[in-house]
Amino acid sequence: MSIETLSTAQLRAAAIEVLRVNDLGTMTTAAPNLYPHMWSWDAAFISIGLARVSVPRAITELRTLLAAQWTTGMIPHIVFTDDDTGYFPGFDRWGTANAAALPPGTRSSGICQPPVHAIALRHILDRARENGGSDQQAAESFLAESFDGWLAWHRWLATVRDPDGVGLVEIHHGWESGFDNSPRWDGPYSRVVPGEVEPFTRRDTLHVADASERPDDAEYTKYLWLVQQMASVRFDDDAVRDTIDFRVRDVFFSGIMAASSEVLAGLGDELGRTGDAAELRELAARFRAGVASTVDPATGLARDYDVLASEWISTDTVSGFAPLVAGGDPGLLERQRDLLQGPHWMGHPDLRFPLPPSTSPASPAFRPRTYWRGPVWPFLNLLLGWASARDGQEHLHGSLRSASLDQLSDLKFAEYYDPLSGTPLGSFAQAWTAAAALEWIGAPGGASPDTPS
Ligand code: SER
Repeated sequence: MSIETLSTAQLRAAAIEVLRVNDLGTMTTAAPNLYPHMWSWDAAFISIGLARVSVPRAITELRTLLAAQWTTGMIPHIVFTDDDTGYFPGFDRWGTANAAALPPGTRSSGICQPPVHAIALRHILDRARENGGSDQQAAESFLAESFDGWLAWHRWLATVRDPDGVGLVEIHHGWESGFDNSPRWDGPYSRVVPGEVEPFTRRDTLHVADASERPDDAEYTKYLWLVQQMASVRFDDDAVRDTIDFRVRDVFFSGIMAASSEVLAGLGDELGRTGDAAELRELAARFRAGVASTVDPATGLARDYDVLASEWISTDTVSGFAPLVAGGDPGLLERQRDLLQGPHWMGHPDLRFPLPPSTSPASPAFRPRTYWRGPVWPFLNLLLGWASARDGQEHLHGSLRSASLDQLSDLKFAEYYDPLSGTPLGSFAQAWTAAAALEWIGAPGGASPDTPS
């Protein structure tokens, strides 16, 4: 079915149903089978979608996530439900029960994901103010109640993960980037030589139509080796940095850090937290500059940096557009927008929908059906759309919106899509994909959300 024959109301109802199916009451699972727990950046996008339906439920989502915040300030990438059978590696395999910073009574992984949360909180607050009344009251008190938590999270990233103040966030596992098996990490992972890894049985491949849509076993062995290395030092931040075989400055994570710090500064202003807002604006500026400093003059794309190998990582992946998320120098952003809409990306002639693939189809590394090696990820298009609206780029925002609505009108709400055929891949009924649809649609039966907040 195309968007012409499917009504917006039908798409909205189907997306709401996906969120309902994944709803456990105080958290939304990322997907019914493949991901039966809460993921940090999924939760943020899910709350953006939930805010279109129920502001109190959206607040609950972020409150649940924040309750699992480590005493260091880190927000863990997975908050586990009690279902220990559906997903691997589960809480026990992570070994985080021995981590000094794990809050008592919580069950989480020991790594983090990009800090999109303040952006989500801004959306919730805006929806709540449109609604007024008890929604507004609830969102404003949640902002006051939670601000210190988000601030501690940004401070932890700025100190522990950018100790030299270069304006780039260092990650210690590909899972922290969210781009697990992207060609970005092929170089760093090629230098990870696993020691003895405890035996394991994967579960992810049971939940996809074709195992080649997922990372392979050799990749998983390295993923688990890194988890084991962290567990061996009880996830102590300094000890992990000294021990781990994977240390990369992640440019896309850093772009989100810049954008989100700016948003959190604005939320701080609302609370009269002038000093904290100024500190957050400094962070935003530092990470914007850090992201801009990575741009390869030859390609115009931003790059990651492998700390252990002391080398830049140049790939044709969508992370190269980190400056568009971070914001900043108008000349740089204009060049990036031209690239994004050009023939290697949204303008590639073979695309089913004009949306940016995770890896450019013009790259030799492109694999259209394999996770982060080529497929299109709907939540990422929403993030790029949000940033383009922030920067007054209505044309780009409108293109992303209409192509996304066309793509999502298959009602599968897939985790990712083959950019060439448009085939839905990975997990279906993925909660953040449904949330993206709800946000692209905007207010029910109301004004078109051409410039969402
Ligand atoms: N994305 C990872 C997975 O596939 C975990 O964060 O399990």
